Amino acid sequence: MNIPFLDLSKMDSELKNALKLKFGELLDKGRFSGGEEVESFENNVSTILNSPHVISCANGTDALELALRALNIGAGDEVIVPALTWVSTAEAVIMVGAKPVFWDTDRNGLLADDWTKAISSRTKAVIPVHLYGKMPNMDFLMKKAKESNLFVIEDAAQAFGSFQKRKAAGTWGDVGCLSFYPTKNLGALGEAGICLTNDSKLATRIRLLSNHGQPARDQHELVGRNSRIDTIQAGFLNVFFEKLPAFQKKRKTLAAKYDEQLKSISEIQLPNGSDFGDCNLHLYVIQSKKRDLLRAFLEKKGIKTAIHYPEIVPDLKPYKVHGDFEMSRSIAKNGLSLPLNPWLKEEEITFIISKICEFFKS
Ligand SMILES: Cc1ncc(COP(=O)(O)O)c(C=O)c1O
Repeated sequence: MNIPFLDLSKMDSELKNALKLKFGELLDKGRFSGGEEVESFENNVSTILNSPHVISCANGTDALELALRALNIGAGDEVIVPALTWVSTAEAVIMVGAKPVFWDTDRNGLLADDWTKAISSRTKAVIPVHLYGKMPNMDFLMKKAKESNLFVIEDAAQAFGSFQKRKAAGTWGDVGCLSFYPTKNLGALGEAGICLTNDSKLATRIRLLSNHGQPARDQHELVGRNSRIDTIQAGFLNVFFEKLPAFQKKRKTLAAKYDEQLKSISEIQLPNGSDFGDCNLHLYVIQSKKRDLLRAFLEKKGIKTAIHYPEIVPDLKPYKVHGDFEMSRSIAKNGLSLPLNPWLKEEEITFIISKICEFFKS
């Protein structure tokens, strides 16, 4: 067998045809920026996630930067971020002139509950990252942040469709930032992102910032930038919405198989941490001290896996900070993402499981 970690060319032909039709339709209309597709995309997100204000933008990294700027976070300010995340979380903080203060994660890769120890007189915000689609205990996090007058910006880039107590990832904090990078559960055929907020003034400010400060063409109220979503991407995402419930169901069925059949292997720690709610299962990350050997073994058997992420952000050259970050480092060393996507066949999952069992028996 040859099982890729994720191969987007494997989308079913019905879906590919719907996307081609959408492309043809938009080409005939000749509208490539703004317009009805963008409006209906924002409305779709608003309905699914039950969020009153949805502001689309060019990608998830921009969403974080727009959120920080809209909250007036900049030079001299500190923002607490987890040590284990995709670089964008810290990158956006630096891009607005503020300083990321890294804090360790728990064993599930989520910002550890004692992050409040990182608060200083300069701290303005905390960015919990819903890594792999999992969410930390949000009631607890929001309470702690509000006690210290901090803004909460959720990095929900990986968490479209994750909920906790029936409240969507991205709708708990002051601003929620999501990504529609192609590999996400809901992925565009290019780049796209959104900011979510319950605050109408903040929503207006984010929208202005994302469109050169313009409330209307040629009126400029503040210095902004261009971070608009492409109409074509909004159109594609509108097509994907129809498939999303089936995709999510498939992910859950496949993840349940992994859970059930790998649970007896004592040398593997299965992913958990979705105990507080309903995880979107963006990534299925196991942890094992034999990670590298297992990965090489699976590769030989034709199974591709991935590592999210091999190094923690404070260990990367541009972000270098000394610190303990013991749990984050342990996950970077031992974490392995197994294939999990809607195009995987049942027999492929069975094959992956059988090879993992074979490895640990030998
Ligand atoms: C945790 C996290 N934050 C931010 C981003 C940035 O999103 P984008 O790639 O759309 O800029 C990503 C994307 O992979 C991510 O995984």
